[in-house]
Amino acid sequence: MAAATLLEAPLSPGEFQTAARTALTRPPAGVDPWFHGYHGDLLDDRGYQTWVRAKAQLLALIGGARDRVVVDAGSGFGMVSNLLASWGARRVWATEVHTPMVESHRKVLDAHFGALRDRVHPVRTDVSSLPIASASADVVLSIEAISHYYDVGRFFDECARVLRPGGFVVISDGNNGANPRIRQQTETLWQRLEAGPTGKLGDHEIPEPMVSRRQRLLRAAFPHLAQAQVVELAAVTSGYDAARIVREVGAYLGNAGPAPASPYRRGDCPREPVWGYWLERLFDPRELCSMLERRGFRAYALPHYGGAKNDLVHLANVALRQVPSFRFARAYRVVARRV
Ligand SMILES: C[S@@+](CC[C@H](N)C(=O)[O-])C[C@H]1O[C@@H](n2cnc3c(N)ncnc32)[C@H](O)[C@@H]1O
Repeated sequence: MAAATLLEAPLSPGEFQTAARTALTRPPAGVDPWFHGYHGDLLDDRGYQTWVRAKAQLLALIGGARDRVVVDAGSGFGMVSNLLASWGARRVWATEVHTPMVESHRKVLDAHFGALRDRVHPVRTDVSSLPIASASADVVLSIEAISHYYDVGRFFDECARVLRPGGFVVISDGNNGANPRIRQQTETLWQRLEAGPTGKLGDHEIPEPMVSRRQRLLRAAFPHLAQAQVVELAAVTSGYDAARIVREVGAYLGNAGPAPASPYRRGDCPREPVWGYWLERLFDPRELCSMLERRGFRAYALPHYGGAKNDLVHLANVALRQVPSFRFARAYRVVARRV
């Protein structure tokens, strides 16, 4: 594709909205059913506008996405990657660890966002080991994803490697560990995610609890186990991923290792055992800045109170940001520039 063509936005805002709607109402065969649950808000005009404005406000912190190479780190179903490409990003690496999401993204892209196909590249990977050339990207973007990564230190190492000098890391997350109220609410959420019951908790939909996922894993890996033993072992392997469960329980059952001893305790962040990611870890944004500065970035954090709903809320957010009040903010943004 000619450079001049790449600089143009390949889809108008109206075309993008239509494509997103069609993708949600007529998803191609084989798309994970969670796609609709995850992005259902986009079917409603207000929900759609709020979603787009939130992304525009975030990208405005670094002068937008146009003509840039972006790594979307933990891209989910890839809708944000598609949006950035529609705004004229030169290339977007949509990097995601959860295979069904990556495959769904590819299918949706092919079926409904053909104009973006040359720019958006869904890749199945852990963000701590990006299959992307060194010094080749302009932006690494992490939206509502950093609180799930296995290893944030290694992710930042990768940011330092893949970004060109002058490139940006942009992080947006709602798990503001510097706010004591959020910390307390999150501990309750963690307990529900680990042990259930399923259903709603605030804005969160509690899926199958982690303890019952571990029971399923144990039944599949050790079919001879009695149900009582499955329950007992699932209760003491909290925080383990699948590989560790199989390794340690296998050793224990074969009299080659001690009994696992990791029961869930309030205040522990649970872990999804099949894919291994953390569920809503809390970070103090200032600590993330220090980690980035140690890796050669100039970083700053902003408290975030909302702002995508309308201009008034946005202005209030901009004003409140002048006070570095992470203690009260619901969410945070981190922006770091590679020196
Ligand atoms: C809450 S979703 C956000 C998705 C997307 N950024 C968005 O805003 O729609 C977080 C995503 O990060 C992914 N993720 C978590 N840990 C990851 C890792 N280590 N490497 C790649 N993706 C990861 C999860 O699978 C999940 O899809």
